[in-house]
Amino acid sequence: MVPGFRVSERMGLGNMSRIAYVNGRYVPHRAARVHIEDRGYQFADGVYEVVAVRHGHLVDEAPHLDRLDRSLGAMRMAAPMGRNPLRHAMREVIRRNRVEDGIVYLQVSRGVAPRGHAFPKGIAPALVITAKRLAPNFAQMEKGIAVVTLPDIRWKRRDIKTVNLTANVLAKQQALDAGAYDAWLVGEDEMISEGTASNAWIVTSAKELVTHAPDYRILNGITRLAVKRLAEQEGYRFVERPFAKAEAAAAVEAFITGTTSWVTPVIAIDGKPVGTGKPGSLTRALQRLYAVHADQP
Ligand code: PDD
Repeated sequence: MVPGFRVSERMGLGNMSRIAYVNGRYVPHRAARVHIEDRGYQFADGVYEVVAVRHGHLVDEAPHLDRLDRSLGAMRMAAPMGRNPLRHAMREVIRRNRVEDGIVYLQVSRGVAPRGHAFPKGIAPALVITAKRLAPNFAQMEKGIAVVTLPDIRWKRRDIKTVNLTANVLAKQQALDAGAYDAWLVGEDEMISEGTASNAWIVTSAKELVTHAPDYRILNGITRLAVKRLAEQEGYRFVERPFAKAEAAAAVEAFITGTTSWVTPVIAIDGKPVGTGKPGSLTRALQRLYAVHADQP
């Protein structure tokens, strides 16, 4: 597989045949619309989830839906529907789009109302679900990626998966412009929080696996939680704590975790090789374990 290829090129599916779920209806993707006064559009007043589909099944569906509930609660937003109807709608979107390997995107906004900062009364949350084919990027997982460190300019509730990704978008593009694949974001505490759409991990020279603890500074990734559990099961030395840029520079291995990246090695940080400059052995072991986990129905 060639890294960097777009979904449609890799998987041969154009937008023409895609179906989206929008507020109770299954509509052609190209005709799917939300109102101009949707609060997600005007205020980023909404939350989302991205769930991987592997061999037709949802990977870690329950923890993703638990996190959605948590995000909705933190935003003081109502759930658009109960969990079972939601699970049904996700499956229906997967089925109608004939997705075997790919992702489901689910977004809930507070709803549609005349613009005003206060919560509007009496409106229903808006729900959009889409699915697309996307093969796991095994070539990139094999080769690894380069990251650059950039200031983390986001708000102080990164634990909520809101659709306000403006700072993430800016950082991602700045990383690409610098010739890297992604950015590792550095907080005011000088510690690396996470990537623009992934969690950040290092392996120290003492063979200790380190990733930021789940507090307001990071999104508690579902892939992060799965890898954490797998590492603990294997008896690897694992610690949740922040790590600084200097510690990352001295790491023997580094990698990211995320729904679309699985476990992807980081082989350079700010232009300097991590360890030998090749994906490390612990990273490889965790990659294999995660691939088995993702394959399980
Ligand atoms: N992003 N941190 C941030 C800021 C993220 O946006 C994501 C996921 C993660 C990893 O979380 P998980 O393992 O649950 O995917 C960490 C999704 C994939 C996205 O925005 O596309």
